[in-house]
Amino acid sequence: MISNHEIPWFIPVLDGADSEAVRQTVVRGFVNEGPENRAFEKELTAYFGVPYAVTMPSCTTAIALTLKALGIGHGDTVLVPAVTFIGTASAVRLAGAEPILVDVDPVSFNIDPSDAARRVQKNTKAIVPVHLNGRPAALPALRKIALQHNLVIVEDTAEGLASKSGEGWLGTLSDAGCFSLAPTKIITSGQGGFVLTRSEAVRDNLIRLRDHGRLSRSSDVHPVTGFNFKVTDMQAALARSQFKKLPARIQRSREVDRLYMEGLRDIPEIIFTPRPENGGYLMWPDFKSKQRDALAADLRAQGITLRPFWPALHNQPAYASKEAYPGADEASREGCWLPCSPNITDEEIGRVIDTIRRFFGENYKQSGDMSREHYKK
Ligand SMILES: Cc1ncc(COP(=O)(O)O)c(C=O)c1O
Repeated sequence: MISNHEIPWFIPVLDGADSEAVRQTVVRGFVNEGPENRAFEKELTAYFGVPYAVTMPSCTTAIALTLKALGIGHGDTVLVPAVTFIGTASAVRLAGAEPILVDVDPVSFNIDPSDAARRVQKNTKAIVPVHLNGRPAALPALRKIALQHNLVIVEDTAEGLASKSGEGWLGTLSDAGCFSLAPTKIITSGQGGFVLTRSEAVRDNLIRLRDHGRLSRSSDVHPVTGFNFKVTDMQAALARSQFKKLPARIQRSREVDRLYMEGLRDIPEIIFTPRPENGGYLMWPDFKSKQRDALAADLRAQGITLRPFWPALHNQPAYASKEAYPGADEASREGCWLPCSPNITDEEIGRVIDTIRRFFGENYKQSGDMSREHYKK
């Protein structure tokens, strides 16, 4: 029987072990930020081989507090790519600074170092490169700019959890790396995130900012200003349970990407830009197509959701700019992510591939172009 159920772009997958982990925390009766958070931080430092991990309620707050922990705030500017989830830029504003948008490379979708160098101002203090969808940003080139202008680098690794470049784990290669455990990420704690850093000073500042200006909750003395960005142990327990699933999910992400590429790569209107090497992976299979919007509408009519890239930040009302960002325009106009929930089946992937192939086949028929080999099959 052919099933025509909806195939969403991405839905989080939670199981009995996840609910049991949360239940046990509730039964234990410690629901504040505590032992589950410490245990998760310990697991993260062991996995990534860095000395410090600090849990955070989200990647947006992680980036904001990391910038503050590095002394960045009012009167400062921070370079961010013009194509990213809006949280990268909002985090800069939450820290009190102002983002400067930088164009992206339309092939890697990541911040363009030559445009970054051009846009540095006197008050620029940091670069927040995004490893978009697990593709490593050009850190070696960005480091040169940072060195020249005395900037810090905070890696937005929201979409690069456990992806790698030739240098190692993304998010461990600069002053700090910020991660997301939001529901559309490869693992989730509902909302959530964390920071990895090799700097004890940054770690301590993050803990103070997270908990009302103090390093230890056993003290009611608050030496500096801090806030409440603590993560409950219920969320940390869920994060720990999901973290166990990460290696299998990465393996499946690679398989899903391979199946899509094998099924679609002979279609000239679909451009698969290079996949990360050296142990990297894509969190969500992506491609570019000039016909993206028509394709997405066609798939939607058949119950399949293709997710277009976000509008570039210079076209978002909150960050509107009249400056030219040609790479960002191209990426956000043509880029999209294929359906890829952690439990997507091979049959569902096959249906997505068939539906996309039919779309392009029919377009050729309409334009009278039937010359391409694969449409004669
Ligand atoms: C590149 C990027 N940066 C930042 C964020 C913000 O993360 P969060 O939703 O955990 O605040 C996200 C996604 O949510 C993202 O994809």
